[in-house]
Amino acid sequence: MGLIQAFPFLLCSWFLLASAERSTYIVHMDKSFMPKAFSSHRHWYSSTLQSIKSVGFTSLDAHNPSPKLVYTYDHAFHGFSAVLSTDELEALKKSTGFLSAYPDGIVTPDTTHTYKFLSLNTATGIWPASEYGKNVIIGVVDSGIWPESPSFKDEGMTEIPSRWKGICQAGEEFNSSLCNKKLIGARYFNQGVREANPGVTITLNSARDDSGHGTHVASTAAGNYVDGVSFFGYAPGTARGVAPRARLAAYKVLWSEGSYESDALAGIDQAVADGVDILSISLSYRNTDLYDNPIAIAAFGATEKGILVSVSAGNRGPNFATLLEGIPWAVVVASGTVDRWFAGTLTLGNGLSITGWSLFPARATVRNLTLTYNKTLSACNSTELLSEAPDGGIIVCNQSDETTDFFSLWRYLSGSNVRAAIIISEDTGILRSDTFPYPGVVITPEDAKDVINYASNSADPQASIEFQQTILGTEPRPAPAVSGSSSRGPGRSYPGILKPDIMAPGVLILAAYNPYTNVASIGNNILLSSDYTLLSGTSMACPHISGIAALLKAAHPDWSPTAIRSAMMTTANPLDNTKKTHQRHGQRL
Ligand SMILES: *[C@@H]1O[C@H](CO)[C@@H](O)[C@H](O)[C@H]1NC(C)=O
Ligand SMILES: *[C@@H]1O[C@H](CO)[C@@H](O)[C@H](O)[C@H]1NC(C)=O
Ligand SMILES: *[C@@H]1O[C@H](CO)[C@@H](O)[C@H](O)[C@H]1NC(C)=O
Ligand SMILES: *[C@@H]1O[C@H](CO)[C@@H](O)[C@H](O)[C@H]1NC(C)=O
Ligand SMILES: *[C@@H]1O[C@H](CO)[C@@H](O)[C@H](O)[C@H]1NC(C)=O
Repeated sequence: MGLIQAFPFLLCSWFLLASAERSTYIVHMDKSFMPKAFSSHRHWYSSTLQSIKSVGFTSLDAHNPSPKLVYTYDHAFHGFSAVLSTDELEALKKSTGFLSAYPDGIVTPDTTHTYKFLSLNTATGIWPASEYGKNVIIGVVDSGIWPESPSFKDEGMTEIPSRWKGICQAGEEFNSSLCNKKLIGARYFNQGVREANPGVTITLNSARDDSGHGTHVASTAAGNYVDGVSFFGYAPGTARGVAPRARLAAYKVLWSEGSYESDALAGIDQAVADGVDILSISLSYRNTDLYDNPIAIAAFGATEKGILVSVSAGNRGPNFATLLEGIPWAVVVASGTVDRWFAGTLTLGNGLSITGWSLFPARATVRNLTLTYNKTLSACNSTELLSEAPDGGIIVCNQSDETTDFFSLWRYLSGSNVRAAIIISEDTGILRSDTFPYPGVVITPEDAKDVINYASNSADPQASIEFQQTILGTEPRPAPAVSGSSSRGPGRSYPGILKPDIMAPGVLILAAYNPYTNVASIGNNILLSSDYTLLSGTSMACPHISGIAALLKAAHPDWSPTAIRSAMMTTANPLDNTKKTHQRHGQRL
């Protein structure tokens, strides 16, 4: 009996909950309908929301919250975002000037020596012609910025142009005097995250970059010159962005608590209002039609105002039509390899030297150690098996056995008494990995023949490995090749226009990072951080194009975004560094 009585009550409260369910919507408005009586778009939007409040039965419940305005947008996009119930949304659709509304979607970052490779040089061409991007402002909509990075110091930068309207917004661990003549603006947007996660505590409530992604992207586009940087000895040299004299403004819209289109849209809208020349957006968002995609609409609004919008293609390759967004009016950037390889040099006791892939993040001492090749042990597929290998030597492991993935292999080796490993593998995927926690080199089955021959036939086989080698050129593979993960066209949103537009370096790109984030490891439990790190993805390719666009804009201030895009596409080099047009399919690099 009690059960039966309880039932209607449960049903009733469920019903109330369902009808009171509220979420954030991005609302596109036609501003030409704004009645003259309103002094600003903000007043119009809040009055529109007030007017729908009294509609429907929700107003009968005094405890029911009213529609809540989250952001108003007025520069790249006309409209607002608001927390609404479905009834309120229906009422809103009948309001004057309403165009469309979209539930707030999720956005994600597109990550998984470049300047020389792009044929930029200091003697002739676009670098000197543009004065290295002097005075062009690149807005980076991402995870914020690490302002103390040497890449953002303002040595050599001139006074900030008076047209700049941005600010250096103070926040948690971010003081408003952290900006300078290089990093001229920093702002953060997290109202969308807060509405989607009521009561959430934002861990770093400021423009400070807690992930490192935004710092990497910004320094790739327009980092200043920094001597003597490397990734634990690899890729050593002077770091600089593609446009080292361009200025940067950071708009933090990605949060460890979540990332939403309403915040990204707020960042883009503000960047347009602040006066950026280039927008660099290394993010993925929902797959919808262009007219239903607020980011695409905002990119259109920005382009109309003369701002070039550079966006990453996404990392959903290598299959056909994996490009979701393909915004026709933006420059959509694919990611390719560069002509730089990280290596360890293996020298056998007989003098033969072999270059293998390595990114072991330290100068390990592996000199004249006993080399063991034993077919039984070469699977290297358990710590027990490896305990039978001679202590303190170098072991040859055959990863082509396929019984062991690299991740496990590193774990077994790290738990053994073996000092270093020579890993035979055909898996070129390893050439993209930045995880290399054990002293070793990866060599091809072809090169392995010499090693096995020597190890099997010498009375006292020995070998040495030199780490931290960086090699430039066409070996072992021609470059660029489209990265396996780079999304392929045609774009699903509109296949009528060929996308992506252009490819730029996006595999193992060295750039500035959050210096407290783990970027590498040694063994099973030593974690390392670094001021500069290697990252891969179209996220890394996009800021290269933002930088090139800044150079063109500096050299030709009167060029429209379309003219700049056209100039980049028609002068891009269609050949790789062996003067061939095409890379074989199926290379997963
Ligand atoms: C920012 O930090 C500097 C140095 O610690 C300090 O002198 C300055 O007063 C701070 N500015 C603000 C706005 O807090
Ligand atoms: C150590 O190995 C190198 C080759 O890597 C060789 O030139 C050298 O003679 C070796 N030294 C000893 C003491 O065996
Ligand atoms: C290791 O590899 C050998 C040879 O391929 C295989 O017989 C054995 O089952 C593997 N052991 C494990 C733990 O995977
Ligand atoms: C290879 O290793 C196995 C296992 O430890 C051992 O039984 C065998 O004798 C080794 N073979 C050679 C040629 O050393
Ligand atoms: C490595 O393993 C593969 C697959 O089992 C095998 O075909 C190849 O001969 C092995 N290579 C060596 C050097 O043992």
